[in-house]
Amino acid sequence: MVDQNHIAGEECKASLDEQFGSHRTMFIQCDVTDQEQLRDAFQRTVEHFGRLDILVNNAGVNNEKDWEKTIEVNLISVIRGTYIGLELMNKKNGGQGGVIINISSLAGLTPAAYQPVYSASKHGVIGFTRSIAALASIGNYGVRINTVCPAFVDTPLLESIEKEENMGEFFQYKDNIKDMMKSFGVLDPSLIAKGMVSLIEDDGANGAVMKITTSRGIHFEEFGAHQKTKV
Ligand SMILES: NC(=O)c1ccc[n+]([C@@H]2O[C@H](COP(=O)([O-])OP(=O)(O)OC[C@H]3O[C@@H](n4cnc5c(N)ncnc54)[C@H](O)[C@@H]3O)[C@@H](O)[C@H]2O)c1
Repeated sequence: MVDQNHIAGEECKASLDEQFGSHRTMFIQCDVTDQEQLRDAFQRTVEHFGRLDILVNNAGVNNEKDWEKTIEVNLISVIRGTYIGLELMNKKNGGQGGVIINISSLAGLTPAAYQPVYSASKHGVIGFTRSIAALASIGNYGVRINTVCPAFVDTPLLESIEKEENMGEFFQYKDNIKDMMKSFGVLDPSLIAKGMVSLIEDDGANGAVMKITTSRGIHFEEFGAHQKTKV
């Protein structure tokens, strides 16, 4: 696990240690927007575990006020993380193959009127992931790359809706977003974990865009013949 929040990271590690043993878990404090820190986190992971098999680019923020930061964390760092992951896993580079999951959002497939830059960053994640997945398939990288797009999920990220420092000029619409949450419902994070694991295990999934909603549960966006391509 890699996160800039070392308190949450250490707590999470401690709870996983009880289940799996401390030698099988690792937490590294890292700001994913810092290129050196990010590369170092990959290097330390490979040094500890011997290789990289699965990468989830999950870090995300909702900040319409500092919108450049939103692009940096949600899109640029996902791209950089994917490229470093490919350097380590691509069979053409001597890697042993693997799986990458990039976390997008339902806001990456539909307009989000009060979060335009968050929505743009998440659209970018889908476009990048589907494109690099197609390249991985053509180039026989042996790496599958997919996205997960959840609707509202019950995590601390939702608290950002209520903060002017995050929403900026769109803060005035916070009740509209809260109404949307009431009408669409809020997912339990465990369902996202379930979807992610099934996507990691599905040998045939590459370039897939998994959607997770309260009304339809885990399902896929249909783009036609190119949605899933075999590696
Ligand atoms: N909660 C939702 O409703 C929802 C819906 C769809 C998609 N998502 C996406 O799911 C992912 C996980 O978010 P979450 O809902 O668990 O929210 P969260 O706020 O609980 O988790 C996001 C994590 O990213 C970390 N992070 C932020 N910036 C970072 C940085 N520069 N370097 C390292 N770590 C950083 C935070 O410390 C935090 O632990 C995000 O990409 C988010 O956009 C969330």
